[in-house]
Formats: sequence, structure tokens, C-alpha cells
Amino acid sequence: MTLPKILITRPWPKGAQAYMQAKYDVTVNDSGVPLTHDQLIQAMSDYDCVCSSLGDQMDAAVFAVPNARARMIGHYGAGYENIDVAAAKAAGITVSNTPDVLTDATADIALMLMLMTSRRASEGERQLRAGQWKGWGTTALMGQSLEGKTLGLVGFGRIAQATAEKAARALGMKIAYYSRRQASADVEAALDAHYVPSLDGLAAVADVLSLHTPGGAETRHMVDARLLGLMKPTAILINTARGSVVKEDDLAEALKAGTIWAAGLDVYEHEPDVHPALLPLTNAVLLPHLGSATVETREAMGMRAATNVDLFFAGEPVRDRVA
Ligand code: DGY
Repeated sequence: MTLPKILITRPWPKGAQAYMQAKYDVTVNDSGVPLTHDQLIQAMSDYDCVCSSLGDQMDAAVFAVPNARARMIGHYGAGYENIDVAAAKAAGITVSNTPDVLTDATADIALMLMLMTSRRASEGERQLRAGQWKGWGTTALMGQSLEGKTLGLVGFGRIAQATAEKAARALGMKIAYYSRRQASADVEAALDAHYVPSLDGLAAVADVLSLHTPGGAETRHMVDARLLGLMKPTAILINTARGSVVKEDDLAEALKAGTIWAAGLDVYEHEPDVHPALLPLTNAVLLPHLGSATVETREAMGMRAATNVDLFFAGEPVRDRVA
């Protein structure tokens, strides 16, 4: 029996990759360079399944390949705005993602950014390393306490809810959220979460506004100068979702002008490029997309993608099917 041919577009952590290599005829792109759009198009003819990851441009052209061999995209990652799922569906190609397993790791990064921004951690560390620390001072590097402050969550999916739980328990924050659909009374009660029926309303009351929406056209530049202008001058913006949700020029302007107090970002619109206006700002904490970057989480993401691929080739319903 010939094994299904699978392309993994970027190396996976050891355990999950070894699992795939033991079961399938696997090719891994270990060149250190993401595959080009043309290579992805070619892969649809050469492989039975493509395991894509963040940033691979799986657009309509990829799914328009005539008589494509690939019938399955086992995406490594929770977000899949890089995949045109409508085009995949129309072409009869199954697509899966890897939700759940990165929820806690990503929520942890949201909390880390809240603490780093509110307590001016990067700014202080930079001063210290540059030999500019003058010693303990009664008014030096004063930040803001988070205890009793309102965390406003934009979107209320798994990662937002985990962030709410951790922020309430560990930091004593109050929870408010906006999402297109109000959560059930049970979920709200469990998290003591208060629904705000508009994004503008949430922006106005939040001390920390944390973004948890998917990327893509619908949420592009949802946080712009207008919305930032509704926020409190003491407010902090946190983004662990997708860079495209924030209009980065507007954010840089708002941080410079003191329209808001600080921002903690893990994601950027044009990764790995970071908007140059953000780089010199002392009130911006900038992390290199670390949301899911723990050994445990990245292995679990690989195994979750592998499970989806296994189910597909076993002819069974694919657990995390998104198309
Ligand atoms: C995802 O899975 O969507 C993450 O952003 C990758 O870390």
C-alpha cells in the first residue's frame, strides 16, 4: 500500500513530526524559508495533503489547481485567515485547524503583556541594561495597578474566556466583553463577565482592552484612530490575536500623543516586519508572536493536526474541520 504523500510547510516540533514521518510519506520544508505562493500551488498537484502553517498563502489560486491531488489541508495553527476556506470548500478540499491546545499558552501571553505594560517592565529593563538605572526612587517608573480594573475583551471565544479567568483570579480584574453574540448566562456567571453590546461602549469603559477576534477582512483595522479616541487616556491595548485587527499607524500616533497609555502587542500586520513607528515607543511592549510558543503547546498543536490528518485518511469525520 502506498502511503499518502504529505507536505509539511515548516518543521514541526520533534515528537509530532516523528509521528507523521512514521505513518506517512512526509516531506518537510526545512529550508528555513516559507514556501512561495507558486510552490504552494505546485504542492497541490504533488501531495495528497498539505500541512500549512501561519502565513502560508492558501488563497483561491491554490484551490483552483485543476485536478489537484491534495484533498486535505491539515493546518498547524488555530487561526486560519490565510486559507480561503470558501474556495477550499468549493473545490471539495477538507481543511482543519488546531484549536483548544493553545488556549492557555496564548492567554498567558495576554496576561504577560498586561503586566509588562502596566508595570513598565520592558522600559525599566531597557534602562537597566543601558546603564541608565539611577536606583530605587519613590516616583521612578511608576506603573498602574491592575487590581479592580476592568478588562474589556473583544471577542469571547476560548482564548478570551481563559484570559478572563486568569485575569480575574490572578490579578483581581473585573471582566467585561463585547462579541457579536452574547455568551450564555452560565458562561457569564462562571466568569462573572459583563456583556457590553457595542465595541465602542467596551472601548470607553475598559482599563485594559484585549483583542481576541479572528483576523481577516471582517476585523481588519477594527482598532483605528476613532476607536482609540474613545478609550481612556490611562487605558492599555493588548493584541494577541492578529496584527491586521489594529491600524498600526493610528496606534503609534495614539501612543505618542498619549491618547492611550500603553500597548502590548504579540502580533503585527506584516510579520515579521513591525511598523517602524512602534519601535522607538517606550510605552509599547513588542513581542515576536510568542502566543503558542511553548514546547508543550507546539507539540500538542502538531499532534492535533496529525489527528485531523489521521481521521481524514481513515475516512472518518475530521475533528477540527473548518471546510
Ligand atoms: C495560531 O495558531 O493561530 C497562532 O497565532 C500561532 O501561534
